[in-house]
Amino acid sequence: MVLIEDIASMKRYVLAVKSNGTTIGLVPTMGYFHEGHLMLMRMAKKISDHLIISLFVNPAQFGQGEDLDKYPKDMERDKTLARAVGVECIFAPSVEEMYPEGYSTYVNVENITNVLCGVSRPHHFRGVATVVTKLFNIIEPDIAVFGEKDFQQLAVIKQLVKDLNMNVRVVGHPTIREPDGLAMSSRNAYLRVDERKKSLILNKSLHLARNLFAEGVRDASKIRDSVKKMISSEEGCDIDYVEVVDPERLSPIRTIEDKALIALAVRIGSTRLIDNTVLGE
Ligand code: PAF
Repeated sequence: MVLIEDIASMKRYVLAVKSNGTTIGLVPTMGYFHEGHLMLMRMAKKISDHLIISLFVNPAQFGQGEDLDKYPKDMERDKTLARAVGVECIFAPSVEEMYPEGYSTYVNVENITNVLCGVSRPHHFRGVATVVTKLFNIIEPDIAVFGEKDFQQLAVIKQLVKDLNMNVRVVGHPTIREPDGLAMSSRNAYLRVDERKKSLILNKSLHLARNLFAEGVRDASKIRDSVKKMISSEEGCDIDYVEVVDPERLSPIRTIEDKALIALAVRIGSTRLIDNTVLGE
């Protein structure tokens, strides 16, 4: 496994890999790997010939007062885990390499970024779309794998690839959960023991939504309100949003015809957690 830290070397590496028709699979990450990341890597490895991952904590997607400075890091552990999964190359550029002095270009996907997480994190998806565009331009992957836990991010990247005619197949991987149901996230590391217990309310409330749907409830507000009530009953859990939306356009729905995405963001202490499920799938 090779570690590359500058864009020029990365481009040379890609050119050499691609020269004999080898396909590249990319898993973009911000590091501090958990089983969820490793599953994305295993999937990318299965559906491409050569697995590259990027490891870059992207400042452009963090808002003021967010956790950029304390985002967890452990490069040595990440390298060991990546090697064990069969990653061929890690691209880990510095901030100066990705956003040099005078950097001025940002990619903005409209509409679907104004809802859900986009409301409380207004510049987040601009940062994600920008760094993913840069990574796609540098690494030219044939396929790229992203987790469905960040459902809106996945939707934004699919829209970006479609709108800008990029030659990348974007693949979603189902959310990986801890044995007790909490969706895996690097940010779970922030939770204190009592907060970690409270965090189970996210998955429990999604179960409630699925049960209501299975019982025949199709009124989106009824499902949303029941989920909100359950989360609010857990002391110390502050709802950022709970929304029932169309899984393609992410626009609100009143009556669920076929499928609906129920997505939520909840603050527990200083940690903001997100989760979702698609009803009717
Ligand atoms: O999901 C993440 O870890 C990040 O948002 C991504 C896609 C690597 C872009 O920085």
